[in-house]
Amino acid sequence: MKILGIACSPRKGQTTYKALSICLASAKKIDNSIDTELIELAGLDIRPCVDCRKCKNELNCSIEDDFPQLISRLADKDVAGMIIGSPVYLGSMTAQCKAFLDRCVMFRRNDWIFRNRVAGVLTVGGIRNGGQELTIQAIQAACFCHDMICVSDGRSTAHFGAALWSGHPDGIENDTIGIETAQNLGKRVAELACRLTK
Ligand SMILES: Cc1cc2nc3c(=O)[nH]c(=O)nc-3n(C[C@H](O)[C@H](O)[C@H](O)COP(=O)(O)O)c2cc1C
Repeated sequence: MKILGIACSPRKGQTTYKALSICLASAKKIDNSIDTELIELAGLDIRPCVDCRKCKNELNCSIEDDFPQLISRLADKDVAGMIIGSPVYLGSMTAQCKAFLDRCVMFRRNDWIFRNRVAGVLTVGGIRNGGQELTIQAIQAACFCHDMICVSDGRSTAHFGAALWSGHPDGIENDTIGIETAQNLGKRVAELACRLTK
């Protein structure tokens, strides 16, 4: 069984990537059968959906960019959980994240491929209360459209997902509260994904 992380920052290997890595490492600890993969959108050319409708009846898109190289990884039947991570940009997700989510409409249109996958959302803002929860909700809305099962960050932090602060003077690794939500989110996604697949 696999849990995918999608890092939706335009910056490779930065705070969203670091936070998602911690989150996935925590997911992996739940069961030896869990495999994790972290996909970074940084460096990929993923353009916005243009509603060409080519994907109505096939997992294919008319836009010639880097999205098609992700299709088989996203459609993989082994994927039981997805953790989507985005930086907060002006109180919401990045344009890269929105373009990615819109292009994923093809999986809804073709047999609801994401249906019943566990969805967790992680966000990183430059300030402590910079819109992380708003961003989580916006991403969760897209997950609900796929009939995915959105989870909180689980006990004991149990709220809306992982919310981190990259502006900590000693780096995101020292945002103890945020890191705890990331670890709990990974654990929660993994626990439920295991329950649903065993
Ligand atoms: C265009 C833009 C808008 C931003 N808006 C917010 C914001 O509304 N709230 C916030 O907390 N941080 C905001 N930030 C800061 C980023 O969320 C923060 O630096 C984050 O850690 C970047 O993630 P990354 O390191 O993975 O690229 C903004 C950054 C940019 C470039």
